[in-house]
Amino acid sequence: MENKNYLFPDFDKLIFGGDYNPEQWRHTPEIWDEDMRLMKLAHWNEATLGVFSWAELEPQEGVYDFSVPDAIFEKAEKNGLKIILATPSGAKPRWMAEKYPETMRTADDRHRALYGRRHNHCFSSPVYREKIANINRLLAERYSHSPALLCWHISNEVNGECHCEHCRRAFVEFLRKKYDNDIEKLNLQWWTRFWSHRYDNFEQADPPSSIGENAVHGLTIDWKRFVTAQTADFMKHEIAAIKEYSQKPITTNLMGFFTGIDYRELAKTVDFVSWDNYPNWELPWGDVGQASWIGMTHDCMRSLKRKNFLLMESTPSLVNWKDINKLARPGKMRISSLQAIAHGSDSVQYFQWRKSRGSSEKMHGAVVDHYGKEDTRVFSEVAALGEELEKLSAVAGTKVISKAAILYDWDTIWALQDMQGMQKNSKKYGEATHLHYGAFHRRGINVDLIGRKDSYDEYDVIVAPMMYICEEETAGRLASFVENGGTLVGTYAMAQVNENDLCHLGGWPCGVLMDVFGLRAEELDTLYPEESVKINAYGEEYTAKDYCEILKVKDATVLGTYGSEFYKDTPCFTVNEYGKGKAYYVAFRDKSGTFTDKLIGEIAADKKLPTAINGKEIPKGVTAKIREGAGEKYLFLLNFSGKGQTVELDGEYTVITTGEKISSVYLPLNGGLVLKA
Ligand code: GAL
Repeated sequence: MENKNYLFPDFDKLIFGGDYNPEQWRHTPEIWDEDMRLMKLAHWNEATLGVFSWAELEPQEGVYDFSVPDAIFEKAEKNGLKIILATPSGAKPRWMAEKYPETMRTADDRHRALYGRRHNHCFSSPVYREKIANINRLLAERYSHSPALLCWHISNEVNGECHCEHCRRAFVEFLRKKYDNDIEKLNLQWWTRFWSHRYDNFEQADPPSSIGENAVHGLTIDWKRFVTAQTADFMKHEIAAIKEYSQKPITTNLMGFFTGIDYRELAKTVDFVSWDNYPNWELPWGDVGQASWIGMTHDCMRSLKRKNFLLMESTPSLVNWKDINKLARPGKMRISSLQAIAHGSDSVQYFQWRKSRGSSEKMHGAVVDHYGKEDTRVFSEVAALGEELEKLSAVAGTKVISKAAILYDWDTIWALQDMQGMQKNSKKYGEATHLHYGAFHRRGINVDLIGRKDSYDEYDVIVAPMMYICEEETAGRLASFVENGGTLVGTYAMAQVNENDLCHLGGWPCGVLMDVFGLRAEELDTLYPEESVKINAYGEEYTAKDYCEILKVKDATVLGTYGSEFYKDTPCFTVNEYGKGKAYYVAFRDKSGTFTDKLIGEIAADKKLPTAINGKEIPKGVTAKIREGAGEKYLFLLNFSGKGQTVELDGEYTVITTGEKISSVYLPLNGGLVLKA
């Protein structure tokens, strides 16, 4: 059993806290003492300070005012509260936009934005970079020695792109470097002889635009990579200024499956990942699917660094920005929070501590409402969870260990979005990923979501749904994985293009993968949404929708065939022995998940993947997850099924909060328990 891996060497508890904006109340500072009293009652041990507070810290250029953070740090030290200190780059002061218009963002139609909102800066602007480095340095110098400082939080949910001249220049340099300053290399990879779009030199390589070039897929995918690289570069710039004075760990809060930035690249710049989770609970059709989707998102966030993460934001009750902003029902916030921990979070944090009085988020849920006191349902639920998390301290630093992985790549999202074909506007890559994820999740099997370029060494099973982008090198690594005994699952649209979105000549799946799967795919049929195709496999009938690929099988064993259409009786599901391993190919999109469930069930049994409760059925809609470390195993049971459920355990467990010994448990609606094996 491996040891624990704490995110912070000096903090061995679960973090419980969230966004705190005392600057909104600087005209009534007595409220800060009330905040401290209430935070104690809520069992908060952390507050995230400084998000979007630049105008408070630097009200005029070069004029600084640290009186609010000074006061809060002092109170935090006295009250044993930890501070996660944010850098303020997510929103800038009005004077900066006025004096330095270049700090504003330029849209893809080349119009510069006006001042307003947040996340509205240019990440290439030398002035913006200089200004943020200054303020970060001052913050780090001032607070690095405070015992209250836990770690750094860079900016807030970084996102967006800018099309100004600074950014254009940086893009040109990015391309020069990537294509060895050889424009013909670029022309070939971008296939620019098509429609006479050849470039004569790098200076012509303008960023894509809705009113200009947007049909060259090599350009659009390289631009997205540039946006990631430039965001990461800006992040490194912010971090370097902090590091001059503080060696505390650094994170930035991500947004789950946000598609604008390759989070796997961005995660390389920080010490650990954190993310903001705002599920759609209380759905008319139930929360089972949503719980599984959120589980997958947590697993993706954890897998970015294969390390525990923080749940940096969640709501204690409701949000204000969805079309319908429904209250989380009693108990739901608790199991949603425990779900994050079950999947590898070492914190539960909220947006926000106190509801702001005015402006756009005044109706967003908070621990303390405009009412201002502690006798509310939401406050009571928060305080009860805080007390419970104190009893669950031993879970902090334990790990989620997975023997199965699903490949999930931002490159693939981008290339599928661009590709004009299949279902043009929505290829449903996320849904395809979730279809496979769900089959592991239902069984309580831990699974990582890794990138194709990550190491495959720790895994026995790899599933690669719709792995459209695959270069020869990745194909070779997948081949070695199978050769050495791994089980690989590939699906339709596998390995059709290289990393620059150029189709592989010789067919798909590319190169050695044809030997690995023992077949090649010849055509891909896209169905109208109301159509389906019969599938015969495992002696049963299943249903395909959306996509059916027509295969030419060479060495593979046929396990399933199409039951209708002009490709009736041709193979649609195969397995091939390759070296010591096996490679399955599923040529169609499974409609309901029943086929995928059967397949993953068989593979899990064959590879003896550990399940949360050995040999027992987990009721539908109950999440069962294991975290382990330092000789201990913790079982999380969380009931998202919408009704009471009895769970039979595979032995005697201890309920951590009560010490009670149990071997079966009744979980009421929205109930959950953490048990020790
Ligand atoms: C997040 C953001 C917070 C707050 C919250 C509201 O995306 O980081 O600052 O706006 O949403 O749900």
